[in-house]
Amino acid sequence: MPPSVHRRAIVSFLALAGALALAGAALAGNGGFLPSTPESPNAHRITDAYIFVLAFTGAIFILVEGSLVVFIVRYRRGRRARTAEGPQIHGATRLEVLWTVLPVLILTAIGAFIFYKLPGIKSAPAAKAADETTITVEGRQFYWMFHYPNGAVSVGTMVAPANEVVRERIVSAANDVNHSWWVPQLGGKFDAIPGKTNYNWFKAPVGTYVARCSELCGIQHAKMIAHVHVVPRAQYEQFIAKRKANMAGYTLGKEEWDVVCSTCHRLDHTYIGPALGGNPLLRDRKGIERTLRQGFGKMPAVGSDWSGQQIDALIAYTKTLPRPKPQTP
Ligand code: CUA
Repeated sequence: MPPSVHRRAIVSFLALAGALALAGAALAGNGGFLPSTPESPNAHRITDAYIFVLAFTGAIFILVEGSLVVFIVRYRRGRRARTAEGPQIHGATRLEVLWTVLPVLILTAIGAFIFYKLPGIKSAPAAKAADETTITVEGRQFYWMFHYPNGAVSVGTMVAPANEVVRERIVSAANDVNHSWWVPQLGGKFDAIPGKTNYNWFKAPVGTYVARCSELCGIQHAKMIAHVHVVPRAQYEQFIAKRKANMAGYTLGKEEWDVVCSTCHRLDHTYIGPALGGNPLLRDRKGIERTLRQGFGKMPAVGSDWSGQQIDALIAYTKTLPRPKPQTP
């Protein structure tokens, strides 16, 4: 192959490989190169800031990398002798002023834009106390638990009223580790730290939004996914009232099993922890309570701060699991 054809083949191959690699990211379900569609005023402002900065950095990237490629090709050595000297150039005042003043203007624009957007990201819009709900978001290894104003609890799914300010108190239990509560469509990311309370808020239309833990917190960190189920206020009220009235019931127990226990255990085979099927512990309230509150071996004390009713709820559910097979002699 003549050298120019050879070179063209390499360049086409690299361009194709690059295009393929970028196409995956561009078409990804999570919004591609852009953040997922914002659904809360603070998330809107974060996305605006992202796009504003991206426009400048994108243009600079194309300009710098583009000229790099042009210079590499245009001024390559080619057939000139290795010892040939290039033209000697001293000073280009206009160019130098330009590349000093332009970045200053760009940085000023970015700074001004961010400071303009910041207050609306930090503070929730003013709302009457009646249109404001505070929900405590608790990060635990490896699940999210939600505490509502009336004392109700849910695990794995937060239910929240639509189109009003929902304040989030973000915490982690004293004996747990750091987690980070992040619902990309509903605003920023906040750490859940033992001994410290962080606050965030959202105001979202009816819908279901995915939340994830974004702080490496242990072996099942990647499974710490939760959902925020935003519903009309009446439906929210109904949910928390029903929950409150049945805090020791099957529904909460099933949630605890599916979200807390199943993250590390299966009934019929060893997963992160041992198989639980047929384990007499599942029907032994005292044994379950001890294990949840104190942990066991490598298992963290996942239920150290559960109420007695929450433990009863789990028992109510485990009672419905298949009974252990009788041992054949
Ligand atoms: Cu919790 Cu990562």
